[in-house]
Amino acid sequence: MRHWIPLFSLFLASRYSNCACDISAMITEISNCSWSGPVRQRHSLEKIPSCSLMLVQTVEDEASDLRGVLVAPPKPPAPRPVGEGTANATLLILARNSDLDGVLSSMGYLERHFNKRFGYPWVFLNEEEFTEEFKTRVTAATEAPVSFGLIPHDHWYQPDWVDEDRAREGRESMQRANIIYAGSVPYRNMCRFNSGFFFHHPLLQPYRYYWRVEPDIKYFCDVTYDPFDYLRDNNKIYGFTISFYEWEKTIPTLWDTVKRFMSEYPQFVAEGNAMDYLSDNGGDKYNLCHFWSNFEIADMNFWRSQAYQTFFDYLDNTGGFYYERWGDAPVHSIAAALFANKEQLHFFRDIGYRHEPFQHCPSGEEWERGKYYAPQSCVRRYEKLFLS
Ligand SMILES: *[C@@H]1O[C@H](CO)[C@@H](O)[C@H](O)[C@H]1NC(C)=O
Ligand SMILES: *[C@@H]1O[C@H](CO)[C@@H](O)[C@H](O)[C@H]1NC(C)=O
Repeated sequence: MRHWIPLFSLFLASRYSNCACDISAMITEISNCSWSGPVRQRHSLEKIPSCSLMLVQTVEDEASDLRGVLVAPPKPPAPRPVGEGTANATLLILARNSDLDGVLSSMGYLERHFNKRFGYPWVFLNEEEFTEEFKTRVTAATEAPVSFGLIPHDHWYQPDWVDEDRAREGRESMQRANIIYAGSVPYRNMCRFNSGFFFHHPLLQPYRYYWRVEPDIKYFCDVTYDPFDYLRDNNKIYGFTISFYEWEKTIPTLWDTVKRFMSEYPQFVAEGNAMDYLSDNGGDKYNLCHFWSNFEIADMNFWRSQAYQTFFDYLDNTGGFYYERWGDAPVHSIAAALFANKEQLHFFRDIGYRHEPFQHCPSGEEWERGKYYAPQSCVRRYEKLFLS
């Protein structure tokens, strides 16, 4: 058995010969990412001939020189022609005033590579009022409409009915286990807000689809078609780019809660769902696979549905967002996998994306030669849903 340690690099991609990628930015960002099937040594990015994308996860194998695994996904669906954005959709950023630089950077990438041509409105949400400086500078960063919203108190802060002594014990025991954000209440507020409340915000009511953007993310290549149209025209409810295993210690009782929910509300569990992505034994045990929710292009009407709303309330009532550290990524992923048909999920394999410490990046011809998946990626399990 090999012992795999993630090197915290993931590259997603597929190939477009006319893609206008930002190679110079890539070279400074990731001077040593390279691959060729299983990647045994690193090459310089300058050797990468053309501007296409692929999915590679770098791994560290102590026993060998293996450095990465190439992922060559099947061809993406044919892109729609570039046109004005016509979908009922918005770009959404949850940010603090102190995130301004990261927000402007993210906006720059998305405007340059997508929104300049589509003109979708931006919505910014914060648990405090945005400063004038934030609003002025963000407004200047796009020609699209922008709006700034304050999150209602009850949608953000730890509810009074949560037993704070028990929550503190939970935080402290996770801190002892060295779990990231173990001691943070604001992080838990954010996870709960992203799980159950953002789509109820008044500024989002006019919209159906959203693209979740975070401070300090990067898009390196032009998005040559409208992903919102793609979801709408293909009756999809959830699109992702990265899929990984959750840290089990953050969600010790989540899956048992999900199983109880499924037995109490079987009517919400969809026919043809993606349970096999979540579980290797028909639902008995959660395999920890989830979609990384810092990138989401999805349908808020799914979150607003009775099925999801009932599910969220059921989870929330256990206090697990505070007693443990349930993330919005597993919560969203489990719901999308169970309450929708698997055909309603979509892997945006053709969108190059980076969120520290994972990323997508341009590359050359090699990816077409083989189909490999990094051991820590859940993409293989997702693809398997569609193999039969
Ligand atoms: C990239 O690789 C070269 C040669 O292996 C090495 O000298 C250099 O330090 C590496 N750069 C980074 C940023 O890791
Ligand atoms: C956009 O979607 C929202 C949510 O479904 C809906 O309330 C609104 O009427 C839609 N707007 C248009 C122009 O279709």
